[in-house]
Amino acid sequence: MGPLLALEWATIGFGAAGGLRLALKPPFRRDLAALPALGVALALAGLVVGALAVTVFVWQPWTLHVAAALVILAGAFLWWRGRPSYGRVWGWPPGSLGIGASLDAIDDKWFYRDQAAQFGPVFKMSQFGRPVLCVVGLARGRALLQEHRDALEGAALPYNRFASKGLLRYMPSADHQAEAPLFRRAFSETALAEREPALRAACRAGLDGLAQRSATHRDGIDIRPFLSQWAVEGLTGMFLGIDADDERSRRMGQLVQQLEVDRSGGLGWSARMERSLSAATQLLRDLAARESSQEPAHLLGALVRAAPETLQDEGRLRNLVLFLRLGSGDLAGTLTWLAYQLSANAPWQDAVQRAGRTAGAPQGVQPSDLGTRVVLETLRLEQSEYLYRRVVKPFTYEGFHVPAGWILRICVQESHRDPGIFPDPSTFNPDRFLGRTLSKSEYATFGLDGHGCMGASMVHFFGRIFVEELCHAYTIRTVRDAPPEHGTRHRHHWRPGRRWTVALDRRPT
Ligand code: HEM
Repeated sequence: MGPLLALEWATIGFGAAGGLRLALKPPFRRDLAALPALGVALALAGLVVGALAVTVFVWQPWTLHVAAALVILAGAFLWWRGRPSYGRVWGWPPGSLGIGASLDAIDDKWFYRDQAAQFGPVFKMSQFGRPVLCVVGLARGRALLQEHRDALEGAALPYNRFASKGLLRYMPSADHQAEAPLFRRAFSETALAEREPALRAACRAGLDGLAQRSATHRDGIDIRPFLSQWAVEGLTGMFLGIDADDERSRRMGQLVQQLEVDRSGGLGWSARMERSLSAATQLLRDLAARESSQEPAHLLGALVRAAPETLQDEGRLRNLVLFLRLGSGDLAGTLTWLAYQLSANAPWQDAVQRAGRTAGAPQGVQPSDLGTRVVLETLRLEQSEYLYRRVVKPFTYEGFHVPAGWILRICVQESHRDPGIFPDPSTFNPDRFLGRTLSKSEYATFGLDGHGCMGASMVHFFGRIFVEELCHAYTIRTVRDAPPEHGTRHRHHWRPGRRWTVALDRRPT
C-alpha cells in the first residue's frame, strides 16, 4: 500500500472514530440504554454500512480518494464552525456551535455559568445542530423578552401537537390572550386552604410509612415514589375535586403517568399519547357531568362554570390534562430537591421544627414564613433552570445580530447565582428572603413575561406543607449520596442522582 493510500485509510478511520465518539456520548448512550432494540439495530446498521464502504473502497479505489477528501472537508468545516468567534462577521455573539460541546452541555451542570464567565452574559451554543442564544441575567432577559416580543414565540416541545391550539405556554399571543385569562381566573378560584387538612394527613401518612421502612433499611430508602404519588394525588384533588381514595383519582393518575412528555416521537408514541389524552378528557367530561357539589372549588369546576363550552373544547380539556402531567412532574421534582437540600442542611430542619406549622393558602408572591422560604431558596438553587423561546424574526440585541430560526435560552438558574443579588450564592440560606421581596428582574422561578406560571401558589403550598410535616416529626439525612443527574435533552431537568437514598428518623416526642 502506497503512503497516499495509507493516509487516506487513516483519514477515514479517524473520521469514523470521531463519529463514533460523538455517537457514544453519554446522552446518546442513555437514550440507547432505554431503547436497547434500537441500539442493536443501529450497531448492526453501522457494521453493515462500514463493511460495504470498505468493500467499495477496495473494489474501486477512486471512491477512497473521494471519501477521504469528504472527511477532511467535513472535519475542517466542523472545526471552523465550532470556533467561538464563528459568525463574528455577521454580528453573532461569541461561543462555540461545536457538536461535542453541545452534547457535553447536557451533562455539565455548570456549562452555562462557565460559558458566561468565558464569553460574557450573552453567548451562543448549539443544541442538536440549532444555534441557541444564551442570556444570563434576569433584568437582561426580561428586557429582551419585552423589547423583542414580536420576534419571539414559544419553543414548543413535541407534545404540543396533541392540543388543537397547542399548550397554553406555547400558544401564539392571539390565542394566549383569548385562553389565558380564563385559566388564570380558574386557578385563582381553586380552593387551596380547604384542602390543607387532607393534604397534610396524606403527607403525614406517607412519611410515617417511609419512617417505618427506613428503620429496617440500612442502605436508606428512596423518598421519590412517595413524593410523586403525593404530588399527583394532591393536584388531582385540586384540579378535579376528587379524593385520593376515589377510583377516578387512581384512574386519572394512571392516565397522566402514561403521557410520555419527554419523548419526541418514535413508533407508537403518537398513538399512545392520543389514547391516554382521549381517555383522560373523557374522564373529565364524566366528572363534570356527575359533579353535584363544587365545594371545595376545583379547577375543572371553575373552568366549566366560567365557560360551559369547555366540555366540548377538546383542546382546552387536553391543556388541563397536560397541566396536570407537567405540573405534577415539576412539583415532584421540586419536592425531591426540598428533601435533598434539607438532608444536606440539617440545622434548617430544626429551625423549621422550632418555627411550628402555619396554615392557609399562600399570601403574596413570596410568602415570608420559614417553610416557604425553604421552598423559595430550593427553587433558586435547583428546580428553576431556564426559559426557552423560538426566534421567528431576526433582531439585534446588545449589539449582536440574532437570526430567525435560532432558539433563545434565558439561563434562570445561573442568574439566580448572581452574588450582587444573592451574597454567597451557593449557600443554602432561606433567610436571604427574610424581610425582602425580590423583583422579577432579581428572582424569577416562575417566568418573566405574560406566560408566567399559574401553579406558583400551588407549588408554594405543597412545598410548605411537605417541609413543615417532614421537619415537625422527623429528621432526614442522606445515607447514600449520588451526583445529580440529567435527562438526555438540554431541556430536561437536573435531579438528585438515582442512587441517592435517605434515612427518616422520628424526632423524640
Ligand atoms: C402545581 C404545579 C404547576 C402547575 C399547575 C403549573 C402550571 C403552569 C401553567 C398553566 C403555565 C403556563 C402559563 C401561561 O402560558 O400563561 C406555567 C408556566 C410556567 N411554569 Fe408552571 N406549573 C406548576 C409547577 C411549576 C414548577 C414547580 C415550576 C418551577 C420550578 C414552574 C415553572 C414555570 C415557568 C418558568 C413557566 C413559564 C414558562 C415560560 O415562560 O416559558 N411551574 N406553569
